[in-house]
Amino acid sequence: MKYYFYHILSWPQLLYVAEDYNGRIVGYVLAKMEEESNECHGHITSLAVLRTHRKLGLATKLMNAAQTAMEQVFGAEYVSLHVRKSNRAAFNLYTETLGYKIHDVEAKYYADGEDAYDMRKQLKGKQIHHHGHTSHHHHHHGGGCCAADTKSVEARPDSKSEAKASTKSESKAG
Ligand SMILES: CC(C)(COP(=O)(O)OP(=O)(O)OC[C@H]1O[C@@H](n2cnc3c(N)ncnc32)[C@H](O)[C@@H]1OP(=O)(O)O)[C@@H](O)C(=O)NCCC(=O)NCCS
Repeated sequence: MKYYFYHILSWPQLLYVAEDYNGRIVGYVLAKMEEESNECHGHITSLAVLRTHRKLGLATKLMNAAQTAMEQVFGAEYVSLHVRKSNRAAFNLYTETLGYKIHDVEAKYYADGEDAYDMRKQLKGKQIHHHGHTSHHHHHHGGGCCAADTKSVEARPDSKSEAKASTKSESKAG
């Protein structure tokens, strides 16, 4: 639960829900921003649609919304995610519908010993900070990686490190 709050407070722009006509949540996507070797990228943490509402294109819509926000709000260059090798529905969604490619395989990534595909999709990587022609990223906001131009909600620094520590023990997407 703490892990979810950490995402919501840190990247509120990257959480989307699908509602039915009564306002009941029937699907969601939860994502975050990360920085690896100076490359700012988004990561899909969790995605799910209620059984009764699957195959209607909701996951596609949620994923597209999160990807667009990563690109436009944070200037993400690509988006990554992990998926169980056996998860055909999600794998098809990512590869066929959304255009993700297998970047790597992570052996025994999940607690039950199953391997994960480490998948990526390139985004246009629209720059939000304009510094001439340099591709180097500058972070003025003290917000660490990929700070958004418009600050809305900020996680407290202490709650952030606490939440990070619990990452591995919480359930993983896929
Ligand atoms: C994976 C999941 C999020 C897909 O949600 P969804 O709203 O049904 O997906 P969409 O309707 O947007 O489907 C888009 C594409 O995904 C693929 N897909 C979705 N469900 C599929 C299934 N049961 N079998 C095969 N392919 C499937 C298809 O390529 C589909 O395109 P199509 O409808 O043109 O055939 C949903 O099945 C789910 O919540 N599963 C359990 C949680 C989970 O696995 N999350 C992903 C963790 S990484």
